[in-house]
Amino acid sequence: MTGVKDIGVNRGATGSHIILCDDGKTYVVKFAGRTKAAVNEFVGQALAKAVGLPVPSASLVKVSADLIASSSDMRYRTIAPGMHQGSEMVPDSFDLDEWRDHFSHGSVKLDNAGALPGAICHDNWILTGDRERADNHLVQPVGGGFRYTMLDFTHGFTGPYWTADSLEQASYLRALVPAHPLVADAVTGPESFQPTLERIEALGDSEIEAVVGAIPRSWGLTEEESECLVSFLELRRGLLRSVLASGKSSFPNWVG
Ligand SMILES: Nc1ncnc2c1ncn2[C@@H]1O[C@H](COP(=O)(O)OP(=O)(O)OP(=O)(O)O)[C@@H](O)[C@H]1O
Ligand SMILES: [Mg+2]
Repeated sequence: MTGVKDIGVNRGATGSHIILCDDGKTYVVKFAGRTKAAVNEFVGQALAKAVGLPVPSASLVKVSADLIASSSDMRYRTIAPGMHQGSEMVPDSFDLDEWRDHFSHGSVKLDNAGALPGAICHDNWILTGDRERADNHLVQPVGGGFRYTMLDFTHGFTGPYWTADSLEQASYLRALVPAHPLVADAVTGPESFQPTLERIEALGDSEIEAVVGAIPRSWGLTEEESECLVSFLELRRGLLRSVLASGKSSFPNWVG
């Protein structure tokens, strides 16, 4: 995908841009460079998709020198021309609090509600620290129902400033990351995690290595950082089941 028009800075701490691309679609683009925001998005998104969780479609977006020149923000931040990480804009959506307050009334269910405990599995696999925020989830009206989408992986891997050392230390963390209350409520016991947990556990080393290996070289991840990322994912894949089981007090509807 190639960016053709910069619509402007998106809301949020990362300073992503909303960019119209040559496929006629609009993408929220996180930039590679000083932080690992794009790396985290790339890997978090790809792994969520690989285990069947609902995410916006992702694409590398080519940002040209001309497009950068057209934006004072991109110029000021000295964004490098080349590939950055895009997530296709989900139109007419609500965040989780908006959806709960306006639509759910305790009875309307999400069409894909099974994905909520799945999101908890993914978050505790890659250590996403800010999924308790309602705006890191989207709900989209679809055909009379509502479809849930998981969003924002920038704060996976303990956040966009990780190093090989910090990631290695974080590999062994056993405390559950915070979940949004509506998402925590969807967990009723170990069986809630089973579908996604099984898919994470079944993901082979080669599939994890392929995702990390596909990170664009121009993003400057060192060999050591790539190896650490793979080890982190493989190690936590093995820990995840017991990490989730030991956190049952976080789930008010847990039975048994
Ligand atoms: N693909 C998308 N479709 C629709 N809205 C999106 C999409 N990506 C991001 N947004 C909106 O933009 C907001 C900011 O995006 P995101 O959370 O990914 O970035 P961020 O800068 O890391 O934010 P923060 O650090 O504040 O959580 C989201 O909360 C959401 O409202
Ligand atoms: Mg966010």
